[in-house]
Amino acid sequence: MTLKPRLLWGGGLLVVVALVAAVALMWKPAIAPVSSPPASSFDAQTRLAGARVVALGDCVVCHTAKGGQPFAGGLPLATPFGTIYATNITPDVDTGIGKWSLEAFTRAIRYGVARDGHLLYPAFPYIHFTRMSDNEISAAYAYLMTREPVKATAPANELIFPLNFRPLLAFWNVLFLHPGAEVADASKDVQWNRGKLLVDGLGHCASCHSPLNLIGGEKLGHAFDGGVVDGWEAPALNALDAAPKPWTQAQLVTYLRTGRASEHGAAAGPMLPVTRDLATVPEADVQAIATYILSIQKPQSTPTADAPAPTAALPPEAKRGAELFAASCAQCHGPHSPMQAVGERPTLAFSTAVNAATPRNAIQMILNGISWHGEDSINYMPAFSQVYSDQQIADLTSYIRAAYSQRAPWKDVEQSVATVRKENDAR
Ligand code: HEC
Ligand code: HEC
Ligand code: HEC
Repeated sequence: MTLKPRLLWGGGLLVVVALVAAVALMWKPAIAPVSSPPASSFDAQTRLAGARVVALGDCVVCHTAKGGQPFAGGLPLATPFGTIYATNITPDVDTGIGKWSLEAFTRAIRYGVARDGHLLYPAFPYIHFTRMSDNEISAAYAYLMTREPVKATAPANELIFPLNFRPLLAFWNVLFLHPGAEVADASKDVQWNRGKLLVDGLGHCASCHSPLNLIGGEKLGHAFDGGVVDGWEAPALNALDAAPKPWTQAQLVTYLRTGRASEHGAAAGPMLPVTRDLATVPEADVQAIATYILSIQKPQSTPTADAPAPTAALPPEAKRGAELFAASCAQCHGPHSPMQAVGERPTLAFSTAVNAATPRNAIQMILNGISWHGEDSINYMPAFSQVYSDQQIADLTSYIRAAYSQRAPWKDVEQSVATVRKENDAR
């Protein structure tokens, strides 16, 4: 009898403790604003180091709207929960991070908390950036604080209820944010450890190359098993040995720095800007990344050998595709095209997209092509989305699969083309 009120008391106390804990998790204090530190307060060497950090972190890729000023924000990022806009990280005092102290900036990078205390969405990859060293963070800060301030406010996010209520992110963070510096593995050499740090931290490779669970967290135990981002498949980084030709260290470094690899293919879609950033960092960083990536390969069944000759007995859709290919693609991809004759150019038989389990990336490549970049036109491929119907794109896709891959034909390709187009239009 006397137990009852005690139980009630105990229960009540537990609820209060839980509420206090939840509130402490969900609301973080603001960090006092500072007046923008003058450029002269950062030495040239730190700023230069910052340029490398910012390139490795792809900060400009997300924080720049189409045709907008670098770092001024406004780029929409589509998530299954709605659209999140990257914010302005130029040192503008009203709309950017001009009033942020290094302490506030560090808290954002390590814990995903903005200066005023609101929790940031994990579309900002702080769960990876948390591995950055203090030096890397202060170098990035120095670099960003010495950019041109731009007045620009990102549009308001369009997120579904209840995810538009930021404090709830506290519970997501309990599951997926494991703050703290990377612990070096003493059994591995310096290069490997440096690569792991760059891949897990600044490079945030897993944020695209890992599958996500229903609440947008990276699936536990499936790091680098492959993911989907912006309608593209980011292939498994631990199955590079399944490629028709296994990757070498040199090819992987070249791919990451130039966006193409002679026995594989070219970077396109969301991977293209990653390679453009990696082109600007010291080669040693990319060597380290490649060393680490090649060390995480899972054992594969024997890779398939060289390209098969196009088969005589093509299915009807591939036959139609063959004619379109001769008209629109062979001048670059045909066996005697100048592009093939230069050597160094990959044949489609080596392409991950053409050998993949689904036609998604092959369709994306044909629809979007690969955009012209500065002086370097070597990776250029025209976009065919306005040129061909869904059926024609599907025929071409079926043809390159039949002619260049030894794997089974893809099914329902036309349906996939329609789906990919619809998704692209909605983006
Ligand atoms: C994959 C895209 C992506 C990348 C890469 C990225 N960011 Fe962001 N970042 C975002 C988004 C989206 C937000 C806004 C999140 C929100 O509003 O909750 C954000 C917010 C921030 C904020 C908070 C700003 C504010 O006003 O609240 C800072 C600081 C920041 N990013 C710095 C960086 C730095 C430094 C890098 C590179 C090392 C970087 N970001 C790379 C997407 C990205
Ligand atoms: C002006 C030359 C040009 C034309 C025309 C062209 N492509 Fe490409 N394509 C390229 C280049 C360059 C690449 C990047 C790979 C490389 O560096 O060789 C590429 C890549 C691809 C890939 C991806 C290979 C990879 O990197 O994994 C596919 C698939 C593809 N093309 C299909 C086609 C099809 C189908 C057509 C015709 C509808 C076509 N291309 C027309 C130049 C061209
Ligand atoms: C913004 C998302 C994104 C990020 C970040 C990203 N990747 Fe990718 N990556 C992709 C996509 C999508 C593809 C497939 C498109 C293509 O083949 O061009 C790809 C392709 C690749 C490929 C080619 C795989 C193959 O089999 O052809 C390699 C290698 C690769 N990425 C390595 C990396 C590494 C290493 C990092 C980190 C430094 C990284 N990626 C970061 C999206 C991303």
